[in-house]
Amino acid sequence: MEGAPPLLEALDLHIRFGGVVAAAGISLQVYPGELLAIIGPNGAGKTTFLNLCTGYLRPERGRVLLEGKEITGLPPRAIARMGVARAFQIPQLFTEHSVEENLLLALAAREGFWEWASLRNDQRRQRARDILALLGLEHLAAVPVFEAPEGVRKLLDVAMALALEPKLLLLDEPTSGVSAEEKFRVMDTLVQALRIQRVTTIFVEHDMEVVRRYADRVAVWAEGRILAEGKPQEVLANPKVLASVVGVEE
Ligand SMILES: Nc1ncnc2c1ncn2[C@@H]1O[C@H](COP(=O)(O)OP(=O)(O)OP(=O)(O)O)[C@@H](O)[C@H]1O
Ligand SMILES: [Mg+2]
Repeated sequence: MEGAPPLLEALDLHIRFGGVVAAAGISLQVYPGELLAIIGPNGAGKTTFLNLCTGYLRPERGRVLLEGKEITGLPPRAIARMGVARAFQIPQLFTEHSVEENLLLALAAREGFWEWASLRNDQRRQRARDILALLGLEHLAAVPVFEAPEGVRKLLDVAMALALEPKLLLLDEPTSGVSAEEKFRVMDTLVQALRIQRVTTIFVEHDMEVVRRYADRVAVWAEGRILAEGKPQEVLANPKVLASVVGVEE
């Protein structure tokens, strides 16, 4: 991991919204193959960082590099094409369609040009089956998304991001809204799929137990800055971090 050049590098990112400073000099390296957690209180700028890395926001100052190439300010579609995928705090799904149809739509969208009549071509169906199997969702292929539990919706959102075959995946609170019983099962499945696909991942997370169990490294956000970073067991024992994050630990 470390030793290899970073896959993603943020250098001194700044952005304000009116009087709110959401990024006040964020610098961070993400290395190939790692699973990096971002924690921090509400409003600290975690989602803003994901938006800056994916072109949804343009920094006032600072740069973002992907494999050493500058991607600062490129449109989201261009950054997605370069191998950065994301899932959202609230899954962006077609709820009246089935689990499989959602995935077919994601696969078709990746190809750019498609028609309803050929949505279910054999190649795409095979690929959809493979991804559903990877996330343990194959038995739910025909279920309409609105009937699926939140844990399944979260995994489907990740499945749709993985359909893009990304190098880097950004997840905003993959376990939010997922019941306590479902949480670790969702994360086990997710992390196993990411390792199999060798996808480097940044995930924003509010549940410290999830961070402790799954993250290789953790970065702590506070008021648009990085307060601490390092191995979960060290960072989560840091009194400064405890004081800042304790408010969001459930
Ligand atoms: N597009 C925007 N326009 C105006 N203000 C924004 C915008 N995006 C974020 N902010 C503000 O910037 C600050 C950081 O927001 P952000 O969503 O990044 O926080 P967060 O760490 O993801 O919080 P949470 O844990 O609640 O999701 C907040 O004060 C928020 O209100
Ligand atoms: Mg957020």
